[in-house]
Amino acid sequence: MGHPIGQFLTRPPHAPLPVRDAPASGRTRGRRILITGAAGGVGRATAVQLAAEGANVALADVRVDAVEAAAAAIAGEAFAVHMDLAEPASIAAAINAAEAKLGPLDGLVNCAAIVIHADPLETSWADWEKIFRVNLFGAYETSRLVARSMIASGSRGAIVSVASEAGKKGHVESLAYSASKAALINMTRVLSAALAPHDINVNCVCPGGVASDMLREVAVAYGKLAGKAPEDVFPQLVSSQLVRHIEPVEVARTISFLLSDDAIIIRGQAVSADGGDTPY
Ligand SMILES: NC(=O)c1ccc[n+]([C@@H]2O[C@H](COP(=O)([O-])OP(=O)(O)OC[C@H]3O[C@@H](n4cnc5c(N)ncnc54)[C@H](O)[C@@H]3O)[C@@H](O)[C@H]2O)c1
Repeated sequence: MGHPIGQFLTRPPHAPLPVRDAPASGRTRGRRILITGAAGGVGRATAVQLAAEGANVALADVRVDAVEAAAAAIAGEAFAVHMDLAEPASIAAAINAAEAKLGPLDGLVNCAAIVIHADPLETSWADWEKIFRVNLFGAYETSRLVARSMIASGSRGAIVSVASEAGKKGHVESLAYSASKAALINMTRVLSAALAPHDINVNCVCPGGVASDMLREVAVAYGKLAGKAPEDVFPQLVSSQLVRHIEPVEVARTISFLLSDDAIIIRGQAVSADGGDTPY
C-alpha cells in the first residue's frame, strides 16, 4: 500500500490484520427483522448473520431475482420482498408483506443505498433527487412505518441504519451521497429521542471501505478521475489500521450488536465501523 497523498508516514505499513472468526451469538434470536438492500454485500451478510443467530428475517431489495436468491440461500426463517425505496407505496407494500409473513416487526436495518460520483460543482439536480429519494427519504419512510407498527404492537424494537464514514468526513467526489449520509446520521439522532418513550432504540453504523459491489463502483469512478485501472484503485480503498478491506460480515456483526438488548445504552449514535479511519 502506498502512502496517502498529503500525509507523511514515519513507519512502514504493517501486515493486514486477519478477519476473525466469531461464533453466532444468538443475541437476536426470535426477533423479526426487516433488512433493506438485502441483495447487496452488507445487507445480505446481515441477513445471513441474523438468521444464524436465530432471528426471522425479511430481505427487501429492488433487485427481485437477486434478493430471492439471497433469501433462498439462508437456512432458517428468511424470505424475500420486493421494495423500491424511491417509491413510498412500494415501501408500505413491502412492510405489509413482511409483517404478513413474520408478524409485527421488532427490528429494522436500513441498509440500501446508491452512490453517484460527480464533480462537486457539477452534481445535477436530478442526481441530488435520485440519491436523496433512496438514501434518505426511503430510509425515513421505512423507519416511520416500521416504528408506527412497533408502537402499535408494543414491540420493544431497534432500528439500525447503515450510514457511512462519508457522512462524517465527506467525500469530494460524492458530495450528494456524503450529504445524504450526514442527513441519515442526523435523522438517527432525532428518531432516537422521538422513539425513546416507546423503548425503541435507534442507531447507525458508519462503515469505511467494505468489499462489496458499491466499493467496486467507487474504484471505477476514482479510476476514471485518476486515469488508473479500477483493479489498481480497489486494493487501495482500505482501512489504514486493518490494512485491508472491511468484510461485509464484520459490519453485519456490528449491526447485530446494535439491534440487540446488549446495546440498550447506546442511543442515537453513529458508530464508526471503518477500521479506525474516523476519529469520532
Ligand atoms: N461498500 C462500502 O465501502 C460502504 C462504505 C460505507 C457505507 N456503505 C453503505 O453500506 C450499505 C450497503 O452497501 P453495500 O456496500 O452492501 O452496497 P451494494 O451495492 O452491494 O448493496 C446496496 C443494495 O441496495 C439496493 N438498492 C439500491 N437502490 C434501491 C432501491 N431504490 N430500493 C431498494 N433497494 C435498493 C441494491 O439493489 C443493492 O442490493 C449502503 O448504505 C452503503 O451506502 C458502504
